[in-house]
Amino acid sequence: MEKLAPDMPVSATKVVITGANGQVGSRVKETALRVGYSVTALGHDQLDITDAGAVTKTLSQLSPDAIINCAAYTDVDKAEQQPDVAHALNAIGPANIAKASPDDCLLIHLSTDYVFDGNATYAYLEDDLPQPETAYGKSKLDGEKQVLTLHPFSIILRTAWVYSATHRNFLKTMLDVGRNRGDMKVVDDQIGSPTLADDIASAIVHIVDLARANKFDASRAGIYHYTGAGSTSWYGFAQTIFDQLELETGEKISVSPIVTKEYPTPAKRPPWSVLDTEKITRTFDIKPVAWQQRVRETVRKVISMEKDR
Ligand SMILES: NC(=O)c1ccc[n+]([C@@H]2O[C@H](COP(=O)([O-])OP(=O)(O)OC[C@H]3O[C@@H](n4cnc5c(N)ncnc54)[C@H](OP(=O)(O)O)[C@@H]3O)[C@@H](O)[C@H]2O)c1
Repeated sequence: MEKLAPDMPVSATKVVITGANGQVGSRVKETALRVGYSVTALGHDQLDITDAGAVTKTLSQLSPDAIINCAAYTDVDKAEQQPDVAHALNAIGPANIAKASPDDCLLIHLSTDYVFDGNATYAYLEDDLPQPETAYGKSKLDGEKQVLTLHPFSIILRTAWVYSATHRNFLKTMLDVGRNRGDMKVVDDQIGSPTLADDIASAIVHIVDLARANKFDASRAGIYHYTGAGSTSWYGFAQTIFDQLELETGEKISVSPIVTKEYPTPAKRPPWSVLDTEKITRTFDIKPVAWQQRVRETVRKVISMEKDR
């Protein structure tokens, strides 16, 4: 990543993080604190982003350089039964933040591969036509539109298949359930790019740094894709997790491939979630890391956290 030197402002960058206790929010908080930002990390109980009055009051009091919105309704299956709740959180909430953001404040808002129908045969580009097929995807697409319309100095960061060493996610579930059962059946006909939440946080902080150093003009605002490099199926993801578990602990979990039809879910899963990340590399010099490397490191970290307990 590009080194930021002399024209970096001396005062600490002031950032507000919403949804700061979630999987991505907690990583953004940790990374932002580590690089020395002045961080206001707001969990759901400190700021409900669907409360327009509270959002306006909070942001006008804090007057941040950047706002990172990590708050979201992320239960894709439950969203089918609660489309209005998902819409309130994923579209109206971001609109509240966008409306209340000071003009020169960079707003970074997270979005998802679910804005696409998942039927492409190539990695989705940022300007490909979104055609969500789920209530969650529709609510997230509405959120993107609200943010870009109401606060043009924004970055929409679309990501996919997010996991980390903490929180509920595919990697943690595979380890927990796999170790209980000893064998697993995992879907092999949905393809995507596992993405470590810590890498998303690093990418966000890098973009905020560029903006703060005036190396970011409004022409760079807009939609960007960011995921781990490469792609696999959920089965391939699971196999890599279990291979690393065996290396670390000697535990053997057998995993066999199944097709989506054998694992029905209330919300349709996109068969193809691969996002092209060339734009973020070209524009901000952010280079995605091979998904396998990060998955192996994260399994190692989970095992070492268990030993420390
Ligand atoms: N996870 C993935 O695989 C994935 C994939 C693609 C894109 N994304 C996007 O990445 C972003 C972050 O996802 P994540 O995995 O970090 O999700 P997460 O762990 O579910 O975090 C979402 C956070 O939002 C908070 N929240 C819920 N309602 C709120 C409200 N009304 N006001 C303020 N905060 C509220 C939640 O707090 P409570 O739990 O206390 O309610 C939670 O801490 C989302 O925009 C998501 O769409 C995620």
